[in-house]
Amino acid sequence: MSEKSDMRRIYIFDTTLRDGEQSPGCTMNLKDKLLLAEHLEELRVDIIEGGFAIASKGDFESVKAISGVVRNASVASLCRALEKDIDCAWEAVRGAAYPRIHTFIATSPIHMEYKLKMQPNEVFARAVKMVEYARNLCGDVEFSLEDCSRSERDFIYRMIEGVINAGASTVNIPDTVGYAVPEQFAALIADIRANVPNIDKARIAVHCHNDLGLAVANSLAAVKAGADQVECTVNGIGERAGNTAMEEIVMALETRIDFYQARTNIDTTKIYPASRCVVNVTGSRIQANKAIVGENAFAHESGIHQHGMLSNPLTYEIMTPESIGLPANKMVLGKHSGKHAFESRLKELGFNLDTERIGELFGKFKDLADRKKFVNDADIEALAYDLQTKVVEGVKLNRFNAIASNVITPVSTVRLMVNGRPSEEVAVGDGPISASFAAVNSILGIDAQLESFDLVAVTGGRDAQSEATVRVREGDRAYHGRGVSTDVIEASILAYIQAVNVLLAEK
Ligand code: KIV
Ligand code: ZN
Repeated sequence: MSEKSDMRRIYIFDTTLRDGEQSPGCTMNLKDKLLLAEHLEELRVDIIEGGFAIASKGDFESVKAISGVVRNASVASLCRALEKDIDCAWEAVRGAAYPRIHTFIATSPIHMEYKLKMQPNEVFARAVKMVEYARNLCGDVEFSLEDCSRSERDFIYRMIEGVINAGASTVNIPDTVGYAVPEQFAALIADIRANVPNIDKARIAVHCHNDLGLAVANSLAAVKAGADQVECTVNGIGERAGNTAMEEIVMALETRIDFYQARTNIDTTKIYPASRCVVNVTGSRIQANKAIVGENAFAHESGIHQHGMLSNPLTYEIMTPESIGLPANKMVLGKHSGKHAFESRLKELGFNLDTERIGELFGKFKDLADRKKFVNDADIEALAYDLQTKVVEGVKLNRFNAIASNVITPVSTVRLMVNGRPSEEVAVGDGPISASFAAVNSILGIDAQLESFDLVAVTGGRDAQSEATVRVREGDRAYHGRGVSTDVIEASILAYIQAVNVLLAEK
C-alpha cells in the first residue's frame, strides 16, 4: 500500500446547506446555517455549497453571510444556466475567500423535452454560453448535467467537452433521481474518462441521491472508477430519500483505504459534532442503527460481541468511536458539578464557546440541575444549541396557563412580551398545545399554520427535558423553531415562538 500522502485526493463537496436544506422539514435559519458552516470548516470539507442564491432573499443573504465567514473551504452557490441566476450567485459568493459558481442544466431526454422544452442543441449552446458567462465573473466554475445518469452517452461526452472548453474546472455527474446502480454508475464515470478528450482539464464530481438506498455505494463505485469529487450531506439529509451521507463516504474511504487507495482531507474526529449539529438545527433525527452516527453504531449489546470486544476491540470493531469524535465516556453532571467540569464536558461534546457564552450556559445548566437530578450529554447539547441558534427575540414568552382535559374544551392563556410590552390572549384548541399556539397567533395577529410538530424526551426518566420542534408556514414560506423545557407545553410554545420570531424578522 502506498503512503497516504501519495494517494489520490478525493475532494469533499458538502451540500447540506443547499440540497440538504431542500428536504422537507430541514429548513434552517441564518444562525443555524452559520453554525453548521463552522462545523463544516472544522471538518475541513473542501467545498461548502451555501445555498441556491436566487431561490429567495433569505437564501441569498445566507450564502453571502457564509461567504463572509468561511476562510478555508471554497463557498459555492447553485444557479440555473441563466444570466440572472449566475449574476445573483456571484453577488452572493464574491466575498468568499474561494468563491465558486455552480451552474446546471438538465441533459436527459425526459427533462429536456418535458421540463426545459428545449432541443439538445439548444441545451448544449446554453450550457457553453452560460459557463463562459460565469467564468468571466469567477475563476472557479462547476457545471452539473442534471439527471446525467439517465442521459445519452454521446450527448454527455459532447456537453462535458463543451463546458470544459468554455472554462468549467469541475464537471458534476448527478444521479438526480437515484436511479443508478453501482456497476453501471462506475461504468459511466470510466466511459467519461475514456471518451471526453479534454477530461484531464477538469475534475469529475459525482452527486448521488438515495432513492434506492445506493447513494453511498454509487459514489464509492464512482471513486474507484476515477471520480475526484464526491458531493454529500451530513447525515445524508436531502430531497426525498436524501443524498450521499458524508460520514459514510468519508469513513468508508478511510476504513477501506487499502482498497480505494484514495484520501480525503476530512478531520474525521469532527464528524460526530457536525452530525449532532445537523440533528439539532434541523430537528431531523437519525435512526438508531444508522451507520457511523446512529446511537447504536458503536454499541455492542450481545454477550458474544462484548466478550470479543473485551479481549480485543478489533474482533468486532472496524473503526473506533474516537475516530469519529464520539465522546469516549458518558458523563453525568449534577447540581454540585462545578463550572470547570461543565466547561470541559462542553469541549468534549465539540462546543467551542467563548467565556461569556459558557457563563450564560452554566447558569442555565444550574437551573436545570435544580429541576433534574442528573444532567447528561443530551441535556447539555440541547441547552447549548438552544443558546447558539437563538434568533432575535422580538417576542418572548412571559407566562402561560394551559388546561388539558378530556371533559371540557382545552384552553390556554398565553402572555407574551412583544418588544418589551406584555400582551395576553385566551384561545381554545384540540389540546393545550394547539390552544397555546392559537393564543400566540391571536396576540401577534398572524395566520401562521402549524405544518409539522415533533416532541421528544431528550433523555430518559420522569424528569427528562422535552425538546419540541415545529415548522410553521405563512404563505409560501416555512419557518422552523425548537424549544427545550422539562415541561412539554412550555417546550412547544417556546419552539413555536422561535419559528414565529424568524417569520416576524423576515417580514
Ligand atoms: O440532484 C441534482 O441533480 C442536483 C444538481 C442541481 C446538482 O442537486
Ligand atoms: Zn441533488
